Amino acid sequence: MSVVSPLLKNYLPHAGLPPLAGIVGFAEAACAGLSVETSVTRLKRYHWAFRRLHEIFIKRLTAEPIYELKMVFSLHAHYCAEHAAALRTRVAEMREPPLGLDTVPDAALDAFFDELLAAPDAGALVLGVYETALPALAEGLRRHLAETNKLVDHPSVRVCRFALLEVDEMCAYGRQAVSALAGDAQRQELSSWSELLHGLLVQSGGLDGSRESKGGVPARRFSAKPPVYDKVPKRDERFVDSYNMGVHAEVFLYDETMPMEPKTLMLYYKRLREIDVPEMMASILAETADKPWDYTVDMTRQLWDEARHAMMGEVGFLQAGIDWRQFVRINFTWSLALNTQLAPLDRHAVLYFIEQGLMPKTGKRYEWETAIASGEGFAALIQDYDWADEVLHARIGRDWYVKQMGDTRTAVDYGDACWSRVLIDWKSYIERGLTRHENWWPGLYREWCRVRGIEPDPVVLAYHTTYETARADLKELSSSG
Ligand SMILES: [Fe+2]
Ligand SMILES: [Fe+2]
Ligand SMILES: [Fe+2]
Repeated sequence: MSVVSPLLKNYLPHAGLPPLAGIVGFAEAACAGLSVETSVTRLKRYHWAFRRLHEIFIKRLTAEPIYELKMVFSLHAHYCAEHAAALRTRVAEMREPPLGLDTVPDAALDAFFDELLAAPDAGALVLGVYETALPALAEGLRRHLAETNKLVDHPSVRVCRFALLEVDEMCAYGRQAVSALAGDAQRQELSSWSELLHGLLVQSGGLDGSRESKGGVPARRFSAKPPVYDKVPKRDERFVDSYNMGVHAEVFLYDETMPMEPKTLMLYYKRLREIDVPEMMASILAETADKPWDYTVDMTRQLWDEARHAMMGEVGFLQAGIDWRQFVRINFTWSLALNTQLAPLDRHAVLYFIEQGLMPKTGKRYEWETAIASGEGFAALIQDYDWADEVLHARIGRDWYVKQMGDTRTAVDYGDACWSRVLIDWKSYIERGLTRHENWWPGLYREWCRVRGIEPDPVVLAYHTTYETARADLKELSSSG
């Protein structure tokens, strides 16, 4: 039995200053804690959990119709990518030879995440991810903070503490998502599946591996047959007329004869339409293997920015008093065409080609200046950040896509060629009865005038340029910036 030294009990730092850099008291610091080996083993488990959750958010985003879920999957994938990166760095500091970070730590744990990936619908997915996986991860992180020596293993403590901050945020969102999407009937229906999930965690020795792994072949239900990745974008019922390309935002924005104020509507439309970028980027991530984790981190950050831009557009309409669901048609033709017609690298090539085209005078700076000139503070604010984010995205494109292609010229030319190959077929959408490309602009503009109590300007009201002739593949003007 260890005897607490009287000195330890009575020892005081100089002049009443806090002990041990303020981290912990002497008595607690003098206790044992997790060994390097145990700490690393558990950190690897959290890493694996973040990584698999990232994969699940990314692979379920595009075909998930509910807009709010697309947005939150973007955010939570970003969190998971970042925390997985921090854990990788920490594990690499702990005498681990080439890390073993990319190997499955436990078959039952992997089956657990496979089951979540294969969840049959949004209700089951949020139930599994937010009511089982993330709380188990939070519990593991809390246990680490409680059991490891805060002085001795301080770098791990920081990583866990920061991770926990956002895992708790994800859990809080999840509780609301579960009560919104998974009713009692579904919960009842899925009770045996929930038991299976808990059983897999127990079998694996707990998500953090703090208990004994039981081994054995894990049972499976939804993942008995591996799920097929679905890269065809889907939207919920608020997004009617998803093939509508009847209003050409860029031509209006760049028309110097048009007044500045209503141009904010086109800016909000363009921002909200950026929902198609996460849908497309998720498919690149889902279908690209063998890249370093930093690639995943960068691409997921960009994906989240694009989701933010969409929500900025949504807020823009709302603060302008416009119910976008009624007056605006947000198409998905870009993400649909890219995802179904191009290989993952070629999708990235198009994205890079478009985004580097946003950097000159006619791109993001112009949108920001237009927003300022409109006198709409909110429009100016979001365009300011949209521009800043797009500069970061151009950098991400240079770091990953351009480097892979060799040089900028080749990269731009290849992106141009890929974009020219994409068939966004205005006429066939009509012929197949998918849309009539209705011109929704006059309705939107009239509503905006009504809210502001002003008379519509007949010239603005008459705007009817579509993407039929001045198509989205206009070299200077992008569809999805
Ligand atoms: Fe943007
Ligand atoms: Fe971007
Ligand atoms: Fe964008």
